[in-house]
Amino acid sequence: MKFFLIIKIIILKIIRLNISFLKREISGYPNIVKKFEKDFASFIGKNYGISFCNGSSAIEASLFALDLSQNDEILVTSSNFHSSIGSIKNLKFKPIFVDIDPQSLTIDCNDLKNKITSKSKCLLIVHPWGYPCKMQEITKIVKENNLKLIEDCSHAHGALYDNKKVGSFSDISCFSLQGAKAIKAGEGGIALTNNKNFLLRMSLYGHFNRHQSELMNDENLKEFSKTGFSKKLRAHPLGISLASVDLENLVNLNKYKNEIYNTIDNIIKKYNSIKTMELNDKATRGGFFGGYPVIFNDIEKIDEIKKIFEKFKIELYPYHWLPHHKMNIFNSDETKLIVSESIIKNFFMIKIPYFLNFNFDNFKKCLLDCKKNNLIK
Ligand SMILES: Cc1ncc(COP(=O)(O)O)c(C=O)c1O
Repeated sequence: MKFFLIIKIIILKIIRLNISFLKREISGYPNIVKKFEKDFASFIGKNYGISFCNGSSAIEASLFALDLSQNDEILVTSSNFHSSIGSIKNLKFKPIFVDIDPQSLTIDCNDLKNKITSKSKCLLIVHPWGYPCKMQEITKIVKENNLKLIEDCSHAHGALYDNKKVGSFSDISCFSLQGAKAIKAGEGGIALTNNKNFLLRMSLYGHFNRHQSELMNDENLKEFSKTGFSKKLRAHPLGISLASVDLENLVNLNKYKNEIYNTIDNIIKKYNSIKTMELNDKATRGGFFGGYPVIFNDIEKIDEIKKIFEKFKIELYPYHWLPHHKMNIFNSDETKLIVSESIIKNFFMIKIPYFLNFNFDNFKKCLLDCKKNNLIK
């Protein structure tokens, strides 16, 4: 069944791409783009969607939409993609780095509370690798401290917290539609909101001819109605035609991927020296970027472990993210984040094949071989 679903998706993409091309829907805002924005927003549970040329631009536009002042503080994890942090710097806000929780590797709510000051204006969270953050606690903290909330759901298309989709909890939620993500435009992104003013400001930031008539009716924004802010960050309609097929099949894909992850969880559980990211209470994974996360305690043995994985043809990748809080381009303050710093060397991802035909028996044998060679316990 999984195999046929993937084949169906490939065929539908070829058809839809060609239809878009033949209809000359290759730039601007043809129906395929408008429909995708509407369908995506309603799938997540938001009123408005606006597409971008990538997720990074969607995040930068969403920060711009909040109409903050220079040096206002944006709370963000360092364990994140660099462009989310770069967007804070590009707009001249100040990133304040928050650590992650050692079990779930999602934002640490205690550290978050400690980092809030009178200058804090916004919290930007990411649901890493498809694992939802503790949204109940986060929405409470945000409300109590009068912060705006942006969710970066680039890894977590269709993931749930308490049966609500991630991306529905925030003032603005952003999704990358880059080629390795669950919904793929090749390159692309989308931002969602219920707030019309945020929508118009995002439109101004990256689109110059999108909401002209609405902008004309807004006293503060009408002078920009024809030019926007002179950036052109719109999505490619051909990419969106591909992404629209992924959106329609996301629920089924997430179901199959959840089955794979649940089975791997149970296999890994039998070993003490390897663990995985703990799923927060009430959270259901979705999207699943990067692969299945594994944390090796005995990291000195990793080279030999990698050789055994290679022998069994299972791809093992190192952690993708950098210690951004220690990099001059993002931060000049001394910031120590104990968990974020320690996880970088122990964290690896197991590749899940495109056709979702992960071989569990082969994986079990691989781990047994590691154990036999005293590499894991
Ligand atoms: C968590 C996260 N946010 C944002 C982005 C940026 O998305 P894009 O590559 O579409 O600009 C990425 C890209 O991988 C990401 O992993």
